[in-house]
This record gives sequence, structure tokens and C-alpha cells, in this order.
Amino acid sequence: MVNRADVGVIGGSGFYSLLDDVTEVTVSTPYGPPSDVVSIGRVGSREVAFIPRHGRDHRFPPHRIPYRANLWALRSLGVRQVLAPSAVGSLRPEIGPGALVVPDQLVDRTSGRAQTYYDAGGVVHVPFADPYCPVGRAAAVAAGRAADWETVDGGTLVVIEGPRFSTRAESRWFTANGWTIVGMTGFPESVLARELAMCYTSLSLVTDHDAGVETGEGVTHEEVLAFFAANVTRMRALVTDVVGALPRDRACHCAKALDGLQLPFDLPR
Ligand code: ADE
Repeated sequence: MVNRADVGVIGGSGFYSLLDDVTEVTVSTPYGPPSDVVSIGRVGSREVAFIPRHGRDHRFPPHRIPYRANLWALRSLGVRQVLAPSAVGSLRPEIGPGALVVPDQLVDRTSGRAQTYYDAGGVVHVPFADPYCPVGRAAAVAAGRAADWETVDGGTLVVIEGPRFSTRAESRWFTANGWTIVGMTGFPESVLARELAMCYTSLSLVTDHDAGVETGEGVTHEEVLAFFAANVTRMRALVTDVVGALPRDRACHCAKALDGLQLPFDLPR
């Protein structure tokens, strides 16, 4: 029975079948339970831990996801590289539903979410200028292109608090700022990974044009879910390819994010 992993996937529940020889592990953390039991299994030659971000029964809306518990649970199982497939809206007319965006920047427009592990016992400022792992990004872009997927290398993900979608004015403002895609779950997931010195790569599937781009009614939840469901097989294949392409040894800046910092507690091993 395997109960350690080195790659983590946080995604929709359609990802269970990614894994071979699955073991389910109940993990407790100082931040409460993660979104669900963690499934650990093999993808090719790698051990992969999977957490359904919203829970198996989709009970956690984006602003209620136990982000700290999820990342802590993964790290405590041995995970050091995280892949994060998610649905996003496009803020650009030229990037339509079905495109894969691998963002290289992020804007946080969330509010009131617990976004740090370092809120007591000392002051810790992690570097976050480049929020995503360059090695994971390169692997994702290469895998997307090899699969003939319309793949956008880079771009800015703006993360909104939700659970509502954006107004047209907000959406137009995001576009005017030069941002590329909009989602609800990419923060604080990414910064919490960084705070635990884990690599984090966003695999953003465009499911819709956001309200300011589209001239129609604006986006609906049904539309997003149906589009993501229709693409889940493709997304699973992509995640499998990216897992296979990730190097085991990490030479990226994410691995060094905590070097020289005084941490108020030991990180889970
Ligand atoms: N997830 C998928 N589409 C979205 C959108 N338009 N805005 C926010 N989150 C989304």
C-alpha cells in the first residue's frame, strides 16, 4: 500500500480515473480536514496524490474550500509539485472556450480567505513575484502543444472572490488592465503552495468568454460545468502527460522559497 506521493493534483472529481492502484487516505491537518479523502495512486512511474478541490459531492464553493488543509495534506504526504487544473473565463476575444492557458502571473481579487500559514509566531514573507513554477509551466505548455491543444503560454489569471460571476464592468476593467483569464480558485491555492516551498502549475481550461467579452447573457454555472465535463478526458490526458514530464529533482525557485527564512514551525515532511 502506497501512502506517499511526490506529485499532487487538485482538480475536479473527474480525475480519479487518472490513477492506477488507488489507496484512499484520510489526512488530518492543523487546519482541519482537506476537501475530501486523498486518493494516492500511480501515474506512469510517479506516485500521485489527488484531492477533489470542491469535495466529491461538490460541497465546497470556491470561497469555502479548505485551501490551507489541502496544501498541508499534500505536503505531509510527500508532495512537492502540484498541478492545478481548473475552469476559467476568458477576458480576451481571441482566446475562446476550449483553449488551455498556462498563466505566468496572477492578480488576487479575493477577500477574506485564509491565505497564509504564517499568521502567528513570527514574520515570514515568501517571494511571490513569479507565482508559478517555470519548470511545471514549460512541461504543461509542451504537453498541451504536443496534444494539439490550443495552448496559451503565459497570461495573467485574476482570481475573484465569487461565488458570483463578474459584472460586465468588472470584466471590462479586468480586460483593460491587460489580464487574460478569470477564475475563483487559483488563490490562495498558489500562494499556500509557495509558502510550503512546493511547485505549483495552473492548467486553466477556458470554459467561457467572461461577461465583458461576450455580448450575450454572461456566463452561467451550468455552462461552465458542462464545458468542463465535456473536456475532462482531454484534461486527464494532459495531466498524465505533464506528470510524466516533471523532473524528479527540483532546481526551480519554488524549491528555495523558504531558504534563509525563520519559520515558526516545522513543515510537514
Ligand atoms: N470559472 C469559469 N468561468 C469563469 C468566469 N467567467 N469567471 C470566474 N470563474 C470562472
